[in-house]
Amino acid sequence: MQRIAIIGAGNMGSTIARGFLSQDNILLTLANRSVQRLQKFENLIENSAMSGRLICTPDIADSVKGADIVILAVKPWAIEDVIGKIKPCLNKNAIIISVAAGIGLAQLEDMLGGKYSGIVYMIPNTAIQVNRGMSFAAETGLSAKNHETLAALFEPMTRLEFIDESKMGAVTALCSCGIAYVYKFIAAAAQAGVELGLPYNDAVDYFTATVAGAAAMIEHEDLTVQEHINAVTTPGGMTIRGINALERNGFPAAVIESIKQSLKK
Ligand SMILES: NC(=O)c1ccc[n+]([C@@H]2O[C@H](COP(=O)([O-])OP(=O)(O)OC[C@H]3O[C@@H](n4cnc5c(N)ncnc54)[C@H](OP(=O)(O)O)[C@@H]3O)[C@@H](O)[C@H]2O)c1
Repeated sequence: MQRIAIIGAGNMGSTIARGFLSQDNILLTLANRSVQRLQKFENLIENSAMSGRLICTPDIADSVKGADIVILAVKPWAIEDVIGKIKPCLNKNAIIISVAAGIGLAQLEDMLGGKYSGIVYMIPNTAIQVNRGMSFAAETGLSAKNHETLAALFEPMTRLEFIDESKMGAVTALCSCGIAYVYKFIAAAAQAGVELGLPYNDAVDYFTATVAGAAAMIEHEDLTVQEHINAVTTPGGMTIRGINALERNGFPAAVIESIKQSLKK
């Protein structure tokens, strides 16, 4: 049995908690400052087989006692306060994972006062809620075995790529923020659909399936993105007129600018 503690029962903490509880070999402690969020989570999984492997507590310090893996899922500005509370109770062999955006490994190491069995700075993607999406992690001090353990733990929830910390900002802008830009693309396409006479919800539904289809084609077919575009643009046809309208109206430039702007303070 793997003993995991998650501090923070908000959106991200609860999502990761649900993902872990669906794995039989995990004993989970979920800690949160206020009890309301804990009660909400308990109600969600009440009467399921998962509830026997879960402890919910507002006692943040106590929650990490004996934990092999501790996940900090509070807002970035609360990390220092939480680390201060848990530090005296942390198992020295624990792996500490923080999902707080913008708090790097050096800062975490400094606040924790050591490396433990590894410190991980992870950027999950909201699509972790549906066991999809792209998450990233940078680490320090993790052994090859613990690296494998973490990859296996998160594998049912998300694709997880370990990368150099210097790239964390870029992947956060591209993927964590990028998911919102995909939503904007879908919303804009649906607006066009309505002007062409489709009901809004149908337009969202149809275009979302189209986006999922395009993503699957890129994932599963051995073609470049440009080759996929070429395959659907018949010379003199409808699609090339639309593609050229996208170019004239600055679509590629807007996408590039939005991702670059995400990284600026
Ligand atoms: N949501 C995402 O898509 C996403 C993606 C990538 C990374 N993240 C990261 O995930 C972290 C959590 O984000 P979230 O969206 O889950 O936020 P959230 O829904 O606001 O949840 C934050 C939780 O932390 C708890 N908390 C706050 N201060 C605390 C403290 N001092 N001690 C103990 N618990 C405390 C809050 O408890 P109360 O109930 O008492 O307020 C709340 O339950 C952030 O650092 C964010 O950067 C989130």
